[in-house]
Amino acid sequence: MASSIKSLDFKKFLSMLPDRQERFEAAPATLPPGSDQARVIARALHPVRQYLRVAAVTERGADCKSFDLVPDPERGTTALAWFGAGKYLTVFETIEGMRVTRAYSISSSPKQALEGKYTLTIKLVEGGLMSRYILDNWTVGTPVEVSAPSGSFEYQPLRDAKKVICLAGGSGITPFLSMAAAIADGDEDFEMTLLYGSRTWDAILFRDELAEIEKKTDKVKVIHVLSEKTSGRMRKGTEKGFITAELIQKYAPTDEPYSVFLCGPQQMYAFVDKELEKLNLERKYIRHEMFGEFHDPASQPDYPSDVPETVQITVTIQDETKTVTGSTGDSVMQILEKNGIAVPARCRSGECGFCHSHLLAGKVYVPKNMEYRRMADHKFDCIHPCCSFPLTNLVLNVPAAR
Ligand SMILES: Cc1cc2nc3c(=O)[nH]c(=O)nc-3n(C[C@H](O)[C@H](O)[C@H](O)COP(=O)(O)OP(=O)(O)OC[C@H]3O[C@@H](n4cnc5c(N)ncnc54)[C@H](O)[C@@H]3O)c2cc1C
Ligand code: FES
Repeated sequence: MASSIKSLDFKKFLSMLPDRQERFEAAPATLPPGSDQARVIARALHPVRQYLRVAAVTERGADCKSFDLVPDPERGTTALAWFGAGKYLTVFETIEGMRVTRAYSISSSPKQALEGKYTLTIKLVEGGLMSRYILDNWTVGTPVEVSAPSGSFEYQPLRDAKKVICLAGGSGITPFLSMAAAIADGDEDFEMTLLYGSRTWDAILFRDELAEIEKKTDKVKVIHVLSEKTSGRMRKGTEKGFITAELIQKYAPTDEPYSVFLCGPQQMYAFVDKELEKLNLERKYIRHEMFGEFHDPASQPDYPSDVPETVQITVTIQDETKTVTGSTGDSVMQILEKNGIAVPARCRSGECGFCHSHLLAGKVYVPKNMEYRRMADHKFDCIHPCCSFPLTNLVLNVPAAR
């Protein structure tokens, strides 16, 4: 709490108070009789589930597609929950009898949600379960089940600087496309300089869409950073190589603070985080989107030695207890899912707390960059199964999947 208060800008906060006061005064003093406005709004913004169907599919190269999703009134969803640009949806699928969940950022704008459409853009991950399934199976008309929009990767005027350098890699462009469109629509008020890393000019996702947004607003500027040599001359305004501290400095303001937002694959974070250290930015000005599940914990320098290859997990969910066996290379959540036990999940990155469970016996390893637990969680032995890897046999209480 103290650290989140410290990260706020009180000058900005005070400047917003008069506007807040005006809104209070303009609001009706009493609710209309018989209405329960707060509950109606809460349900519309945070539905437990949204039942949608695929309305259109757009190919984006050999291994990536965008899916337009619209409400499916026949299954009870008549309107889409609104969201702040940068949020993700958790997709629920049943693949070979196994309940699978994965997070996908909404690449369309908040305005489009009000018009009845979300777009998800999904890139194939080699050997991946959900991305392969979606790319092979979702066609026009496919029913889709998703969560309410979730996540905290969004612009917060009280915390973030007015100028934001956004660093994207590959499919990490999706939340930034939504933010850029929201700026052009007047729904977000900040200046975005997007350094977007792709392999080649042809591999750039949403190249035309980004160019269109740049034409609509001078608050969005896009610089493509290409890592592979391309034949012919470099296009004007394109950078070569990787996103380095030097490159960020070239485009960052020199006379005022700026925020850095980062979204891309795990390997990009490891590289860019080292570059960001050179810039000595205040911690509150650096924001990372989560990158999803962690694989291969044994590659981490602080992973203990002498961990057995397999372990047993005794798990109780809603008065039912089962004992299953799994590999210590898998997270507790993956082991349970592989054994047909569905665990509540949203981000699968340790951040949302949705899978919060009680560890009654045994030890787990949590990679450093996925350790979002609070002090009380450590004190009372609570873990997030999505990013906890068993080191010994475990006994655990898990909430029922929602
Ligand atoms: C907030 C958020 C937003 C996201 N937004 C997007 C988006 O807009 N678009 C998008 O395409 N993706 C997005 N992702 C990533 C997405 O959630 C999935 O992680 C991605 O689609 C891969 O899922 P999968 O089931 O296909 O792969 P998985 O089955 O989870 O496998 C992932 C990779 O790990 C490897 N692997 C699996 N098991 C092991 C193991 N034991 N050891 C070593 N390696 C292993 C697989 O071979 C594969 O290469 C987002 C993630 C988060 C957290
Ligand atoms: S699913 Fe979000 S913390 Fe585990």
